[in-house]
Amino acid sequence: MMTNATQVFHVDPVHPDPIAIAAAAQALAEGRLVAFPTETVYGLGANALDAGAVERIFIAKQRPFSDPLIVHLADVAQLTDVAINIPTVAYALAERFWPGPLTLVLRRHPNVPANVSAGRDTVAVRMPAHPVALALLRACALPIAAPSANLFSRPSPTTAQHVLDDLDGRIDIVIDAGPTPIGLESTVIDLTQTPPLLLRPGGTAVDALRAFLPDLKTPDGPLITSEKESAASPGTLLKHYSPRGQVILLAGESQAALRFLHSAVPVLNRRGLRVGLLLPDDEAREVADLQATVLTFGSLREPSAVARHLFARLRAFDSLGVDVIFARSVDEKSARVGLGMAIYDRLFRAAEGRVLSVGDDVSDMDLLNQLLAYLP
Ligand code: TXA
Ligand code: MG
Repeated sequence: MMTNATQVFHVDPVHPDPIAIAAAAQALAEGRLVAFPTETVYGLGANALDAGAVERIFIAKQRPFSDPLIVHLADVAQLTDVAINIPTVAYALAERFWPGPLTLVLRRHPNVPANVSAGRDTVAVRMPAHPVALALLRACALPIAAPSANLFSRPSPTTAQHVLDDLDGRIDIVIDAGPTPIGLESTVIDLTQTPPLLLRPGGTAVDALRAFLPDLKTPDGPLITSEKESAASPGTLLKHYSPRGQVILLAGESQAALRFLHSAVPVLNRRGLRVGLLLPDDEAREVADLQATVLTFGSLREPSAVARHLFARLRAFDSLGVDVIFARSVDEKSARVGLGMAIYDRLFRAAEGRVLSVGDDVSDMDLLNQLLAYLP
């Protein structure tokens, strides 16, 4: 493993210094690892045509070799360098949504080393919308394989500090251009299947894709697979975005959720468990009397703000040393549209599927029993 410290290049997010970009591009061309901002999250980049460099991504992240990477392009014209048998709809989608948070799974070009795609004959591609990512891609003139720049199973990084917290000393360079604007990863769709399949909800709303893909298949709730099944549909493992405390998703209407917290938190306190609460602003004002660490993520009516803060808040709980985190979620209707779908998906995974639904039809006693069954 590398022992050198990671170099940090600070650049302007809109007009990055060309000298810093050239140095990072040079490092990529020489097979080194460079973390860089995209409009979604920070990515950990390597030359996608260099199998050795790609292997170093997996090692640095401690990512299983069975989980394929996304290849980033500067330009739609580069598609034919990395993919073959490209369907017409891929060009229509690229025209409409690129640069932007949409990843297309296509047939892999033989020039792309197999380890990029964990041995499959497909390849995931996207053109990111961040000026720094685009400047870097143009400067090195190479397709760049880049997963999110976090250690495996940690929340994706939305700042350069998050990258360093996970990967300092394990990668060569991180380009720091401040926080990423969207905060959740790209939407991934598989165009090699018929009908096309949503693999991950993300920054591009699924509703907007339907105009191009009327038969797009979307799973009913979060797409969750077991360790074994995930070989067929990677990236859908349940435990995928977990902070160190145990997250429990609290679904349902505001008053009922607050009432439940007032009965549950003291129970946990008495058991010596430190409690964290991840709440919208208006609910956070109602829990000052509880013995708990409270973080807020804005208003649930503003999904883009929630998305932007979500991963940073989950990471923040790690350094606060809490044992159990109650996280409020978008309501059922919001979880089916736009960014709400991606927010619910990430919260559900962070909670490893633990959900408590509060409401008039369920007694506090039943909820407490459910909660106790979830506890560490
Ligand atoms: O927004 C994003 O997509 C960020 C930024 C850095 O671009 N990248 C990202 O990469 O989130 P990663 O590796 O954390 O997630 C890539 C997802 C995984 O769920 C992976 O399994 C899936 O895309 N994927 C990649 N290649 C695939 C393929 N050939 N077939 C099916 N799924 C694939
Ligand atoms: Mg990731």
